[in-house]
Amino acid sequence: VSTRVFEDRDEGSKFVATEIAALIKEKNKLDKYTVLGLATGSSPLLLYKELIRIHKEEGLSFKNVITFNLDEYYPMNPVDAQSYNKFMHENLFSHIDIKPENVNIPDGTIPMGEMDAYCRSYDNKINSLGGLDIQVLGIGRTGHIGFNEPGSQISDGTRMVYLNDITREDAAKDFGGKENVPRTAITMGVKTIMKANKVFLMGWGENKAPIVKEATEGLVTGEVPASFLQNHDDVLFVLDKGAASRLS
Ligand code: F6R
Repeated sequence: VSTRVFEDRDEGSKFVATEIAALIKEKNKLDKYTVLGLATGSSPLLLYKELIRIHKEEGLSFKNVITFNLDEYYPMNPVDAQSYNKFMHENLFSHIDIKPENVNIPDGTIPMGEMDAYCRSYDNKINSLGGLDIQVLGIGRTGHIGFNEPGSQISDGTRMVYLNDITREDAAKDFGGKENVPRTAITMGVKTIMKANKVFLMGWGENKAPIVKEATEGLVTGEVPASFLQNHDDVLFVLDKGAASRLS
């Protein structure tokens, strides 16, 4: 699996932003849509900042961009402070010219009875657009990508999942205590992610070093869902020195 180590997260994020901007420009010229899979959390923050800069200073248009976010807590109201919907609008969408109808984020208000049909329609929509051109990922300390926690399978589509205990601990600060972190979420599946044309997984900081090592150099196993990426033919782990510090 390919890894690339940058001086720091700023450099790494700028690299990914440049790659994404180049694809959007190329597709814009051909009057084609660019379909992006996006992540939340701290890992993509500088990437989104740089994409906003490229939009504002270099005039890159997102009018032909369609996005699908990886995940959302469930249940979760989009207006709530911790919602990934809110995160995406604050950190990216409200600063660029993307059309609201081209933004797709799993809906944390879907009634349980409609969940399966809703998740199938999320995957169907991605497939009907020809799949994801680029998927942006972070990695959780559990080895999750999206909210595909240990125990996930390569055949999993978008679905409702239970969050791992470590993941809920990591989210505790955002919710003012672990007991307030939802136990469930909706996530795009490993299958959907694996079908993306190109995947950038960003990992920053030494606390990600052990799981980055397992994911890239360990066995391919559902116990470390990010390890499935070893079987993707165009994936790049974009790392800073800290996250790469345990690689052989
Ligand atoms: C977020 C997501 C998660 C995060 C992961 C890392 O949409 O899908 O897999 O990418 O939990 O989170 P950070 O970047 O906050 O370390």
